[in-house]
Amino acid sequence: MFFWGRVLQVRLRNWNRRYCIMRHLLSPLDFSTQELDALFELADDIEKDPARYAHVCAGKKLATCFYEPSTRTRLSFETAMLNLGGSVLGFSDAASSSASKGESVSDTTRVICCFADICAMRHPKEGAAFVAASHSSIPIINAGDGGHQHPTQTLTDLMTIHALKGRLGDFTIGLCGDLKFGRTVHSLINALVRYENVKFKFISPEELRVPDYIIEMLKDKNIPYEEVISLENCIPELDLLYMTRVQRERFFNEEDYVRLKDFYILDKAKMSLAKPDCLILHPLPRVNEISVEVDEDERAVYFKQVQYGVYVRMALILTLLELA
Ligand code: NCD
Repeated sequence: MFFWGRVLQVRLRNWNRRYCIMRHLLSPLDFSTQELDALFELADDIEKDPARYAHVCAGKKLATCFYEPSTRTRLSFETAMLNLGGSVLGFSDAASSSASKGESVSDTTRVICCFADICAMRHPKEGAAFVAASHSSIPIINAGDGGHQHPTQTLTDLMTIHALKGRLGDFTIGLCGDLKFGRTVHSLINALVRYENVKFKFISPEELRVPDYIIEMLKDKNIPYEEVISLENCIPELDLLYMTRVQRERFFNEEDYVRLKDFYILDKAKMSLAKPDCLILHPLPRVNEISVEVDEDERAVYFKQVQYGVYVRMALILTLLELA
């Protein structure tokens, strides 16, 4: 009896995997704002009562397939799954995976589907997670694809803003640094345009401006934005300042990187020009763009942001596995 029950269960699971619509997170727009509200509510509940969620994913496995270096994102996903009582497997660089032997993302994905229930993937090529999703029978989470998108960092950023500002909308946000290659910036802008009364200040050197496709999108939607070079001049107007590092690995030559890497350094002097409740966010890792003296300022919330990232990834795993 047990045997046939088990066979039926496996058949049904395979049928479900083949024919049901699989939910992935590839872009921050894959969830409506209402769905995001529900996700943040769940993350909030997890923060308040972690014990309630400690075994919800027992028996489930998360694969982290990271073809590019990461500290926070990979460990945050792994912590999230472990906190939910599940297990984790995966690789943390392309060299230790079969990619080094020439295996394609689609083949690796098919293989991972035999091992895990859900997969978080980071890849240096734009669109890699989309390729993976189109060959997958398990939910794929884009954990960063080249200079393109980083939706779970955006969930983290939105949750931080929501928790600490009490609202998503009605603010002026400055995004500062490498706005050309910074995927966290691209994803965050995409997500924020769906909220009311958000004004953007893009603070960057000429060479690292926001890509044209984003500017086109802002123009189409009539969203107010301004591109400026000086952080000092702009900082007094901001309710939020999102700092980013210059993305060395995406530069075509080292000379340009060296010339631009220390273009912005947020220090105490600049913080003294900011509003008393202007929050400073950063996806991390930081290099030199925020002086360590700023860390003790109450407005610097980038380490709190990391903690919110775990709660929101827990909520995401539960939602995609339909366990919420
Ligand atoms: C970001 C990334 O990988 O894009 N970091 C992160 O995921 N927390 C930002 C960066 O690397 O600068």
